[in-house]
Amino acid sequence: MRTDEITSVSSVVRDRCRALGLATLRCDLTGRILERDTHASAALLDTPSATDELRRAASRWSGEAAPGLHEIGPGAWLCPVPEGTARARRGYTVALFAGTSGSVDARHAAEVIRASMRWSSEDVARSLDQGDALRGMTDQLTDSYETLDALYSIGRSMQGLEDPASFIDATVRRLHASLRFQTVFARLSPTDDPAPALRRRMFVAGRPPATPQRLESDPLDSLLAGEAKPGFRIVTGDERLTDDDHPEALVIPLVRGSARIGLLAGMRKEGDDPAVSSYDIQLMESAAGFLGAFLDNVAVYEEQRRLFLGTLHALTAAIDAKDRYTRGHSERVAHLSTRLALASGMDADQAHRVWIAGLVHDVGKIGVPEAVLCKQGRLTDEEFDHIKRHPRIGHHILRDLRPLADVLPGVLHHHEKFDGRGYPDGLSGERIPHLARIIALADTFDAMSSTRSYRPAMPRDKVLDEIRRCAGTQFDPGLAALFVGLDFAEYDAMVDRGRADQTWTAAA
Ligand SMILES: [Fe+2]
Repeated sequence: MRTDEITSVSSVVRDRCRALGLATLRCDLTGRILERDTHASAALLDTPSATDELRRAASRWSGEAAPGLHEIGPGAWLCPVPEGTARARRGYTVALFAGTSGSVDARHAAEVIRASMRWSSEDVARSLDQGDALRGMTDQLTDSYETLDALYSIGRSMQGLEDPASFIDATVRRLHASLRFQTVFARLSPTDDPAPALRRRMFVAGRPPATPQRLESDPLDSLLAGEAKPGFRIVTGDERLTDDDHPEALVIPLVRGSARIGLLAGMRKEGDDPAVSSYDIQLMESAAGFLGAFLDNVAVYEEQRRLFLGTLHALTAAIDAKDRYTRGHSERVAHLSTRLALASGMDADQAHRVWIAGLVHDVGKIGVPEAVLCKQGRLTDEEFDHIKRHPRIGHHILRDLRPLADVLPGVLHHHEKFDGRGYPDGLSGERIPHLARIIALADTFDAMSSTRSYRPAMPRDKVLDEIRRCAGTQFDPGLAALFVGLDFAEYDAMVDRGRADQTWTAAA
C-alpha cells in the first residue's frame, strides 16, 4: 500500500470516529504522534502520562497480530487500527474512548469501537484496491484504443509511395503524439534503402535531440549490432539518447526482408515513470512493422518506376535514332514541356506527367517509313499524309497502357494549331488539350532550333520571334508568352551533350 493510500484510509477512519465524538490520532510504530485532534475532547491526550502510555501501547501492539485495547486511565481506552499491510505495518490510527471507570460496558463499547474502526479501515482499503484496479483497466483500455487509433491512422496513410518521406515523417509525428517520449525519430541507414532520396535521412518529431549530427552519423547502428533477429532494445547509459532524468530510451530496428534498413527510437520519456513501458514497446514495434512493409512497397514501386521509365527512354531513343537529325528530340521536348508546365502553374507531380507526355509524343513515328522521315527535300502530299498519321499511330500504340492514360491527349493532339488548321482533328483554341498546347510549343521550338536534313538550325532570337509571331494562330498566346520567357540554359546543355554523343557515335 502506498503512503498516500495509507493516509486516505486513516483519514476516513478518523472522520468516522470524530462523527461519533471520539478524539483520534496517528502514531508511528514507536508511538510517536504524527497527527492528532486538537478539539476539547482530545485534551486527555495532552498529559505526559498519556503520551507515555501511547509509547507503551505501541510497544505492546508491535507484538500483536491484531493490536488490542490499551487502558490509559480509569475507563479511558486507546482503540488502535494498524496502518499499512499485515506484512508491512507502518503505524496506527488510534481513537480515544473515555467511559465510566470500572464499567464492563465501557470496555465492551471500546471493543465495539475498535472493531468498527478495523472494518472501516478494511472497507476503505478494499475500495481503494478496486479503484486502483479500475484505473488500471481504464489506463489499459485507453492505451489499447490509442494504439489502435495510431496504427489505424498510420495504416491509412500508407498509400503515398511516390512520397515516402512524408509517410515516415507523419508516422514519427503520430508516435510522438501517442507516446510520452519528448523525442521520437527514425533514421534510415546509409546503404540499404529503397529510395536513394531516403538514404541517411533523419525524421524527428518533438524536441530536437541535443546532438542531432551525432544521431545522424553511423554509431547508432552499433546499438543494434549483434541483434540476431529483429527486436527492441532498451538503451541505458548512452549519452546520445539518455541522461540522468531520462535513463531509458527505446530503439527498434527497421527491417525490410532480412535487411536492417534503419531504426526507430523514442527518448526522454516524460511523466511519473521514466521507464520504457510495454505499451511504448508495443506501439513502436507495430509502427516499425508498418514502416518496414511500407519501405518494402516503396522498393517495389521504385523498381517498377525505373523499369517503366527505362522502357519509355528505350522506346523514344529508338524512334529518335531513325533520323539522326532528330536524335535527342524527345528528351528535349520533354524537358521544355516540363519547364513550361511549371511556369504555367502546374505542381511538380503534374509537371512530371507532362514530362512523360513530351517523352512519348512522337512514338507514332515508329509507324512512318524511314524513307519519308529522313527524306531530304520537299515531301509529296502522299508523304506528308504519312507523317500526319503519326499522332494517331502513337495514340493507338499507347492507349492500352493504363499508366499513360492521362498523357494520351498530348500524344494525339500535339500537332493541332490554335486557329484550328492543325491535325489530326483540326481542334482550335481551348478545345485543344492543355497538355497538347504545351508540347506543340516545345516541339516546334526544338524543330526550329535543330539542324534538319533540308535546312540549318535557326538562331535563338529568330526562333523566339517566330513563336511570338505565331502566338494566337499556331500557339496558345498565353503559353507562348510564358515560353519565350523560359531559361534555356539546361536545354542548350542538352543540345551540347547530344552533339558530343553524335560525334562519339560517328567516330565509333
Ligand atoms: Fe510530332
